[in-house]
Amino acid sequence: MEWFKKNKILSIQLLEPKEGNKILDVGCGTGEDVLALSQMVGAGGKVVGIDIDEKMINEAKNKSKMVKNVEFRIGDVYNLDFENNTFHGCRADRVFQHISELEKALSEMVRVVKPGFPIIILDPDWESLLIDSPNVEFTRKFLSFHASSFANPWSGRRLANLFRKQKLKDIQVIADTLIITKYKEAVMIYLLEQYIEKGIGEKAFNESEAEAWKR
Ligand SMILES: C[S@@+](CC[C@H](N)C(=O)[O-])C[C@H]1O[C@@H](n2cnc3c(N)ncnc32)[C@H](O)[C@@H]1O
Repeated sequence: MEWFKKNKILSIQLLEPKEGNKILDVGCGTGEDVLALSQMVGAGGKVVGIDIDEKMINEAKNKSKMVKNVEFRIGDVYNLDFENNTFHGCRADRVFQHISELEKALSEMVRVVKPGFPIIILDPDWESLLIDSPNVEFTRKFLSFHASSFANPWSGRRLANLFRKQKLKDIQVIADTLIITKYKEAVMIYLLEQYIEKGIGEKAFNESEAEAWKR
């Protein structure tokens, strides 16, 4: 998806990776962004990806067997297993939505980055998801259930104040909106059908009202 690609590329560019740099990607998933960054830091640099999910790390390791300047480790953003001032930059892409202690996570990221180097966090704000439907009542119910399914549905709007609390300098907030006009695309990107099933299962709403809303 072009929109995601564009924002990923921007978040990587904002790290200003240079030859020889050591960069950390927190919550790296299957490691695509680590691999992209590894080409920018060159053979003398290194990109480390950590993720709490062993399956993600195993997949990332499998994918990157031939790449020498990357390292993948199972790890938790709350307790980064690195010395202070280790990295020339750190990023977390759509991770803060899944965690509850944002300050603790960001302070760990700050701790492991050398002073003066960038920390980039890319995150959605799920309470800013808007759906156009004639059924306002169910739409509100669904959006509220959807947002409450995330540990931190407001992570996007919280970032600026989080950064300020850490007394970081040169804080920049970039907001972007993804506009989808086709239901099928929204289903694919936002996994709407899965959240409808989940909401029915958790009795947030019933099947007949959900079915009527989809039509
Ligand atoms: C939406 S995925 C994003 C993956 C990757 N950053 C990307 O952009 O493709 C969120 C990732 O955060 C990881 N994650 C969630 N909580 C975490 C934690 N406490 N510490 C480290 N990683 C975590 C998940 O396992 C998952 O791989």
